[in-house]
Amino acid sequence: MTKVLVVGGGGREHAAAEAFHRSGAEICATMSTANPGIASLAEKVKLVNETDVDAVVDFASSCGVDLAFIGPEAPLGAGIVDALEKAGIQCASPSRAAARIETSKAFMRELLSRYKIPGNLGYAHFDRLEDALNYLKDAPYELVVKPVGLTGGKGVKVQGEHLLSQEDTEAYVREIFQRRIGGGGVVFEERALGEEFTQMAFCDGKRIAPMPLVQDHKRAFEGDIGPNTGGMGSYSDSNHLLPFVTEEERNEALTILKKIVDAMNAEGCPYVGVIYGQLVLTRDGPKVIEINARFGDPEAMNVLPILRSSFTKICLEMADGSLRGDIEFAPLATVCKYVVPEGYGVSPVSGKKIFVDEEGVRRSSAVLYYANVSLKDGVLLTGSSRSLGVVGLGGSIAEAEENCEKALSFVNGEAIRVRHDIGKKELIKRRVEHMKQVRGE
Ligand code: GLY
Repeated sequence: MTKVLVVGGGGREHAAAEAFHRSGAEICATMSTANPGIASLAEKVKLVNETDVDAVVDFASSCGVDLAFIGPEAPLGAGIVDALEKAGIQCASPSRAAARIETSKAFMRELLSRYKIPGNLGYAHFDRLEDALNYLKDAPYELVVKPVGLTGGKGVKVQGEHLLSQEDTEAYVREIFQRRIGGGGVVFEERALGEEFTQMAFCDGKRIAPMPLVQDHKRAFEGDIGPNTGGMGSYSDSNHLLPFVTEEERNEALTILKKIVDAMNAEGCPYVGVIYGQLVLTRDGPKVIEINARFGDPEAMNVLPILRSSFTKICLEMADGSLRGDIEFAPLATVCKYVVPEGYGVSPVSGKKIFVDEEGVRRSSAVLYYANVSLKDGVLLTGSSRSLGVVGLGGSIAEAEENCEKALSFVNGEAIRVRHDIGKKELIKRRVEHMKQVRGE
């Protein structure tokens, strides 16, 4: 039996642990806050900060794991894969050098530019505040402003949406430098018009094997308003495309990912693990918003429950460079909605009771993944981040959405909320109409 180390304690990692468990692996798990879902599947659990590389490597060695899988980006940036491999443990996740594709937005943009990879956007990056402010005086297009390093998906601000004047933009740029958000340094990107979607793929350093397309919802509130979050929920369709993305456009997205993997090889840092493309479909085809070095969260919760192939085998193949192309997903649609504490995204109310009838969720053709909750005296309490994800499955997005809502009726609690509009007919229709408008149809 393969013994796997799973690092991370969110909904994404619960979905990964469940997929390992389903494919016969024994799990040793480490995370900073106990996730009751992962704990119920794991033989051993160690609570430790995921970026404490030495503690994670000690735990992995003491468990005698055959393979490690890293969920979040922060430990990748801290070099956890390099340290595990040095200790003789193979990993289905990227090295620190390969993870720069996510940990440095400047590295990603320059890689695309140097290797003439399609899908790049206009960009400029600055290490000095004065240079950044100077650029702003005469920027050639409307901008997206991003700290260079990691911000948990919450550092991106868009002119015309979050930044309504030149003063707003300057103030945010000053804040990035003064508070060293994402490590200091800023990337300005051309704002692209279109619908965003996620293309993830498994990668063994050379080959990629695609997963179904997913659309995430970053804004906190229904109707796509409010602050950006880590993601409030997501959906995927039974044909593994999206209602506004054609097969050809999806292939263009995969070509971008494959060329990135080739470029990483040429750079001497082969990419191993899940590669995540956040793309925007414009009238000129897919463009790159971000490349991440891991599964998306919530997107992992859309694709892993419908994975028919063995996740353990896929991860072993990624780690030893022998990935096969025959990965199978069930022809099902999924709708995932995160239950979050009131105030999530700004000032979350944590420590409130939350009640889950797991059997009721299962009877609703849905699965539930725990995230930032804790168990105290047998009672589940909310934390300050997303509490749990409920994923409805069905033959169509509409059916999956209905099942998700049915399952949500088995989750109750104080001071929690959900973006109920995700996956609903009206919102999907709006996405399709928006794309038609962007294409000029
Ligand atoms: N769903 C966005 C992310 O995982 O970065």
